[in-house]
Amino acid sequence: MDIRLLRPSDIPLIQHANLENLPENYFLKYYLYHALSWPQLSFVAVDVSRPAKTPYDYPKIVGYVLAKMEEEPTDGVQHGHITSLSVMRTHRRLGIAEKLMRQSQQAMVEAFNARYVSLHVRVSNQAAIHLYRNTLKFETEKTEPKYYADGEDAFCMKLDLDFIKQQILEAEKAEDEQDKKKNNGSEEKTKEDQDEGEPVGDVGRDPEQDKKVKVKVGRGLGVGELVERDESKH
Ligand SMILES: CC(C)(COP(=O)(O)OP(=O)(O)OC[C@H]1O[C@@H](n2cnc3c(N)ncnc32)[C@H](O)[C@@H]1OP(=O)(O)O)[C@@H](O)C(=O)NCCC(=O)NCCS
Repeated sequence: MDIRLLRPSDIPLIQHANLENLPENYFLKYYLYHALSWPQLSFVAVDVSRPAKTPYDYPKIVGYVLAKMEEEPTDGVQHGHITSLSVMRTHRRLGIAEKLMRQSQQAMVEAFNARYVSLHVRVSNQAAIHLYRNTLKFETEKTEPKYYADGEDAFCMKLDLDFIKQQILEAEKAEDEQDKKKNNGSEEKTKEDQDEGEPVGDVGRDPEQDKKVKVKVGRGLGVGELVERDESKH
């Protein structure tokens, strides 16, 4: 299974997956809007066990997460939002949705410095509620009555992303420390070891090597012969 960023060419396939899996559907341009505005945040799961045989074969997309940044956050806090998530029935319970969600959450922090991520889920959707609440540790902020077109209520859920920011900072710190260690070790190297290549500028240049050499160009190379002659004069 390959989890990779959504490409605009995947959009008809994820629209198909969305129609198969969820009652909330969107116009093609809404997917495109996500892909063009926040290309870092949406991911697809591709089944690569049977690779394409010709360049015209579609990738086998078995899951997707469509995500965005909230454009005008009412609380003034930069945050992401999950617009849609689904996995094809044939590929459920394999951890695909969890991976898609985690990738998107990471990207929200790395690319946009998101502080939290929000989403809506039907109060009857046990599978999704388990994923969000138990696996990913989302918290229910409130219940929105009749949020869905058929009158069902939604849980508004939220996950603080500061823990991802913390992980990124710790990884950077560990990298810095490793670099420092490496640099300390290399201080003992001889001057010759540290030479980084050819001298730049005139200093240290061999004048013999830079001597200008005369080369034949144009007619001297017989180019004149290739020029079309004006035969009319003969
Ligand atoms: C919800 C959905 C995306 C989960 O996808 P998935 O790839 O099967 O989920 P994962 O394999 O990553 O499972 C994540 C967790 O949810 C649990 N889970 C998955 N399906 C479940 C179900 N039907 N009932 C209870 N728990 C379920 C898994 O056991 C796992 O829990 P664990 O971490 O404690 O082991 C998928 O069922 C789906 O596409 N449903 C239809 C569309 C939908 O409802 N989308 C969400 C809209 S808000």
